[in-house]
Amino acid sequence: MTYILALDQGTSSSRSIVFDEAGHTVAMAQLELQQIYPQPGWVEHDAQEIWRIQLATAREALAKAGITAAQVKAIGITNQRETTVVWNRKTGVPIHHAIVWQDRRAEPTCADLRERGLADTIQTKTGLLVDAYFSGTKLKWILDNVPGARAQAAHGELAFGTIDSWLIWQLTEGRVHVTDVSNASRTMLFNVHTNLWDDDLLAALDIPASLMPAVQPSASLFGEVVPSLFGHAIPIGGVAGDQQSALFGQACFKAGMVKNTYGTGCFMLMHTGSTFQTSRNGLITTSAAQANTQPQYALEGSVFVGGAVVQWLRDGLHAIQGSGEVQSLAQSVPDSGGVIVVPAFTGLGAPYWKPDARGSITGLTRGSTLAHIARAALESIAFQSAALLQAMSRDAVSAGAAAVSELRVDGGACVNDLLMQFQADLLGIPVVRPAVTETTALGAAYLAGLTTGVYSNTDELTQLWKAERRFLPTLPPARAKELMERWEHAVRQTTL
Ligand code: G3P
Repeated sequence: MTYILALDQGTSSSRSIVFDEAGHTVAMAQLELQQIYPQPGWVEHDAQEIWRIQLATAREALAKAGITAAQVKAIGITNQRETTVVWNRKTGVPIHHAIVWQDRRAEPTCADLRERGLADTIQTKTGLLVDAYFSGTKLKWILDNVPGARAQAAHGELAFGTIDSWLIWQLTEGRVHVTDVSNASRTMLFNVHTNLWDDDLLAALDIPASLMPAVQPSASLFGEVVPSLFGHAIPIGGVAGDQQSALFGQACFKAGMVKNTYGTGCFMLMHTGSTFQTSRNGLITTSAAQANTQPQYALEGSVFVGGAVVQWLRDGLHAIQGSGEVQSLAQSVPDSGGVIVVPAFTGLGAPYWKPDARGSITGLTRGSTLAHIARAALESIAFQSAALLQAMSRDAVSAGAAAVSELRVDGGACVNDLLMQFQADLLGIPVVRPAVTETTALGAAYLAGLTTGVYSNTDELTQLWKAERRFLPTLPPARAKELMERWEHAVRQTTL
């Protein structure tokens, strides 16, 4: 039997999963990651802790699987994207905490880029909208604010990396400084047409090119793990940012295929093949995981508050004791009774882009109960995702392609049947849940397996992908349209 070890370094935890060659989960280990909030709007991680717990989970997963490193054909890495680490090349010690993707401190730099008229150039070269979300302005912040950093950078003493680069540096004991295209495309410094760091963008943010890692296709040999870590050398054969990795793990390899990951937020990606497509509907363009030398692209949109609305029901409203109770409470009423919850707690992302919007509950009557609010809260996840999918479909159609025909789902909240059925009802297309919902880690394992000959091509992976359940739409289209219109009306009311 051949095994692949996937390292999945996420925002709230580090996980390691051992897969067999059929893509079945053999063993899994997970450790929580400490969140550091130095001041409002700032979010940091301790990069040393990230490495420590990632290594610990990898060892634990191998032990649970009852296998040795010699039986592991390859390692695949997938990671929270955009989170920025800068470390000293000699000592390997980070010069600052990692600045997490959610961190907003670089907004003034973004405002400056917009004022300098660079937004269009940035979108054309990188596919991104200027935002503090991406790594480039976070990296600039570190160089500008850590004493001595600029001088060290000028002497070539510093290295920048997203979490994948940081883990590979550790796994290879500083021998390899590298990233993959899908992670590079989240930095706002990478030209996704040429697959090179962009000198003009580096100059615009005053970032020396000497900090940047080499960039490789997502399925390629990134280096070898030093034998001392697991008792045997293991090749690192696959790397992708977590959302692109999930797209790959869902076997969405062709233009028009879409996946949605229902986590704390929701991330929806539509593959657009080898065509770079600029959205006319508020989405961003990103590099998809690249299995060979040919660039691949996707359109992406995200919902800021997805599953987090259930945490709010639990911790804010005390409507439920544990997240698992939400389905039964929501199901205790036949529908939301006209109640609409818009969980714009931190503004609204794509396709609305309303940073100042705030949450609302509308449609209350004397008969409204906590169950109606819980149901409406759950439905808000589907409404927001439906708005994203409709934007993607409009983009696809305006590019001469067919409208989206099914949605593949994964992430924690995709186990909620009520939510998935409502999603299918709203969209009017099948919502398909795969047999293996660990698609983020699976994508990285697939990439590593392609590099090391476990799989010969993506057609083979398409064969391996299996649906567990298809949720078919049951609502008349006119009713679904009416519900979406009521949702959009409620969204318009969230900004005064
Ligand atoms: O872009 C941010 C995304 O990669 C974070 O994903 O799953 O760690 O919340 P996750």
